[in-house]
Amino acid sequence: MLEKKFEIIRYANCWEDTEILLKALSIKKSGKYLSIISGGDNTLSLLTEDPDLVVGVDISPAQIALFYLKIAAFKNLSHDNVLKFFGIVESDERIEIYNTIKRDMPEGAQIYWDNHPGIIKKGIIFAGKFERYFAIFRRYILPLVHRRKTIEKLFALNTRKERLEFFKRNWNNFFWKLIFRIFFSKFLMGHLGRDPEFFRYVNEPVAVNIKWRVDRGIINVPASDNPYVDFILHGNFKVCLPYYLRKKNFQKIKDRLDRIKIVQGPVEKALILRYDGFNLSDIFEYMDYNSFKNIYGQILRSAKKGARIVYRNMLAPRESPPEYKKFVVSHAGIAREFLKRDRAFFYSRIVIEEKL
Ligand SMILES: C[S@@+](CC[C@H](N)C(=O)[O-])C[C@H]1O[C@@H](n2cnc3c(N)ncnc32)[C@H](O)[C@@H]1O
Repeated sequence: MLEKKFEIIRYANCWEDTEILLKALSIKKSGKYLSIISGGDNTLSLLTEDPDLVVGVDISPAQIALFYLKIAAFKNLSHDNVLKFFGIVESDERIEIYNTIKRDMPEGAQIYWDNHPGIIKKGIIFAGKFERYFAIFRRYILPLVHRRKTIEKLFALNTRKERLEFFKRNWNNFFWKLIFRIFFSKFLMGHLGRDPEFFRYVNEPVAVNIKWRVDRGIINVPASDNPYVDFILHGNFKVCLPYYLRKKNFQKIKDRLDRIKIVQGPVEKALILRYDGFNLSDIFEYMDYNSFKNIYGQILRSAKKGARIVYRNMLAPRESPPEYKKFVVSHAGIAREFLKRDRAFFYSRIVIEEKL
């Protein structure tokens, strides 16, 4: 049943702070890394640190098709045209561009995209269910809470002190408090954004916790340096591009695309070699504790000494199971510091564990 639901694009972009991931993984030149694909942005970003191999893995055929398309675009297009094709810059030539790059994808991905010209026309960065959820928020809810002027002011505040003052005075009004109760309830998030299935292992009061994290993020992190807030509030990357799309990273990624190998299936399927590090997104939240324990053990066995295992908790608590604690050291202090300045501030915890 779950497999069927994975066949829509759920995440057109990665909603996990790339710069924090790169620091947390502490990538070695010529190392081998496993990375959950999701929107593909962070998997591509790993290439900027010059590893030998990045194995991208995702259980969802649709996310894989999206990743192949992003790779084909990077391979064949200039930076300007990638921005046009993806939807960041206006263009009515996206179908023509698609026709010039599609042959660089395997047949399955071509069939997927040949059947979804509407998504391509609009720009692929808007394609996910998660992005559509934010679009509903931006169009129908946000205007009830803040005027455009107030929203734009947020992007002009440079210091934490300014943001704290602004938050207390202008931002944290009655409607801001109310929307979290409604819009971020388990029920609505499950039906509009995340899959209800994904909330099975969550026991905490979702809305209260998310509000606390978002408030902390608004105060701690400048919006002008935050592609996630930019996309949520502007509906596009208008003031800050995600790391993989920045001009200074573009050529490095383009030149190293052949170091990516793609595996479609559960993460275990990619555990065919010994890795120097793992970007595991928050996949452990979507499984029961016993499956998590089992998969964590397999990951540990395919980790080289010193390999970092990096993952996130959003709602369900996950960290190395007790029986594996003696095989890893947890960099909890560093991870807590990262969390304080996490640009994608919906998460409760970043976990960084290192194989001993
Ligand atoms: C776990 S979701 C979370 C999304 C994430 N928070 C983000 O910002 O992009 C990321 C991706 O993991 C994939 N996924 C979930 N469970 C997986 C598993 N056990 N093995 C491989 N991929 C998995 C999903 O298909 C999805 O594309």
